[in-house]
Amino acid sequence: MGDAGHRSNASAFFGIIARRACPRAALERASDYTMADMKTSKISGLICAALAMTSALPAAAQNQGNADAGRHKSSMCAGCHNIPGYKTAFPSVYSVPKLDGQHAPYIVSALRAYKSGERQHPSMRAIAASLSDQDMADLAAFYSNEPAKSASR
Ligand code: HEC
Repeated sequence: MGDAGHRSNASAFFGIIARRACPRAALERASDYTMADMKTSKISGLICAALAMTSALPAAAQNQGNADAGRHKSSMCAGCHNIPGYKTAFPSVYSVPKLDGQHAPYIVSALRAYKSGERQHPSMRAIAASLSDQDMADLAAFYSNEPAKSASR
């Protein structure tokens, strides 16, 4: 778990592919490798070079949750998650868990689980499916920073 939040899935994913599929030299000297390979026209070398560049993107540029961005994105959550008593009226009355003050990694993993179908709730699945990793990180940053507040607001 530890620092899982610091790197994006996509970046880690490409990193793994690149490490498995490509010679080490290709990853360390991506541009040399590209030049050499254009001459021998080996498509795999180009793919390795592209993967190497993708996985070298600064991790900090991705998936650091931004609470301000999360605040804007949370407007689509507030209708269900910020109402007195934490119950929805539609489609039927059921309890909605409180998000404020939950730990960011928990929120992200819950959203991923809805997106992947590991968690089954239909409305949360539909919502999570529309969220990118960055959206999830931003929303988690917003909700985890938010001091627990009473229902009156
Ligand atoms: C249509 C109403 C609705 C909307 C809109 C909605 N949620 Fe939910 N959410 C629920 C319900 C109901 C549950 C409980 C589902 C279950 O039992 O698995 C839930 C569960 C969750 C959980 C798991 C909480 C826990 O304690 O396990 C998270 C995280 C979450 N929602 C985040 C969000 C975020 C972020 C948004 C906005 C992008 C959002 N939800 C929008 C109804 C909604």
